[in-house]
Amino acid sequence: MKKFLDLGFQPLANSYLDIKNLNKREKKFNLSVGYNSKNNLVSILNTVPKEQMFNEDYPYKSSESKTMKKQFKNLAAYIKKKFDPKTVLEIGSNDGAFIKNFSKKNVIGVEPCKNLANITIRKGYKIYPNYWDTKLAKKISKINKVDIIYSANTLSHIKNYSEIFNAINITLNENGILILEDPSLLECIKKTAYDQFYCEHIYVFSTIALHQILKKFNLEIFYIQNLDTHGGSNRYFIKKKSNSKFKISKNVDKNLKKEIKFGLNKFSTYKKFSKKVESSRIKLKKIFDNLLKNNKKIIGYGATAKSCTVLNYCKIDKKYFKFFYDTTSYKIGKYLPGTKILIKKYKRLKSSEVDYVYLGAWNFKKEIFKKEYNFIKNGGKFITHVPSPKII
Ligand code: TMP
Repeated sequence: MKKFLDLGFQPLANSYLDIKNLNKREKKFNLSVGYNSKNNLVSILNTVPKEQMFNEDYPYKSSESKTMKKQFKNLAAYIKKKFDPKTVLEIGSNDGAFIKNFSKKNVIGVEPCKNLANITIRKGYKIYPNYWDTKLAKKISKINKVDIIYSANTLSHIKNYSEIFNAINITLNENGILILEDPSLLECIKKTAYDQFYCEHIYVFSTIALHQILKKFNLEIFYIQNLDTHGGSNRYFIKKKSNSKFKISKNVDKNLKKEIKFGLNKFSTYKKFSKKVESSRIKLKKIFDNLLKNNKKIIGYGATAKSCTVLNYCKIDKKYFKFFYDTTSYKIGKYLPGTKILIKKYKRLKSSEVDYVYLGAWNFKKEIFKKEYNFIKNGGKFITHVPSPKII
């Protein structure tokens, strides 16, 4: 593993602070990113124990995002029509935004964050409040093997990928399908979206890395959908090698070629990216310094884990911001890790109240700009760092 990026000492991204622990020392770790030339995997170099990140205090709820809810609904309809599964298993079922599209007797969830698992357990779903591993897989497969395993934005959070795929092989029927959805490394690099890297995102997968790793477990990608979610994601449809029911689509090769053409199999590409990240930091800081000098009122929009990486890396803290707006109930009244910026309950933006709004949730730009049409019309301005720092 060769290091190409150092994002400094960072707090745990989703550890929002209460007022009572605002002055306590926060846990920090060095957020560095490396590339493994043997399997093309890009991963963070120092990891945080899973129990410190995924526990009964997990703040992110999928159901609070309109975009995600809609995507899950459409995907569930597609799965039913195309594969007609008897049993569906979701790894990382969060608060049930995906599984609620299936009948309770046909769906199983796995969710180690107990606050989230309990939401779905209370509604009568079969949920295992555990981390995904082979022990759990054996327990589930004793009752029944499953036809579909779906996992969105979860497998990239698990360090031991051998454990993941072995467990999947145990649970999945011979003709079953694994649908895996995670941010795309190609999109991350193209957009200089270095904020895809934080403690939870141990890996940012490329198709070439996944393609190679899956071989070891006798699994293969047979179809890929490129999605807009989370700033650009890939949804991989994966089968066991022995399953000849599904042909490998030409689009798998197309995606592989696209990534190779871009250079995702070369260390030099990552070095170039790291230089771009550094100049992005300087540019963004300059924008904020200028606005501060001119006494502009700046707030943040979407107190995301991603903004935690950006603001801590660029050393843009509460001195620059009045506060952040966010719609997630758990985050309201708390403070962003590291930078200690207050998070307030979302209110529609008014240009008479704020001058500049930093887009923490840049991946929801379309949804946000639509919602804040009046603010923009009246001269309100946004600041973004993707694909390069600018005022919009
Ligand atoms: P994510 O980028 O990790 O999915 O998190 C999105 C965050 O942004 C989440 O805390 C909710 C917040 N958000 C808003 O506050 N307002 C919005 O309109 C949208 C789309 C998101």
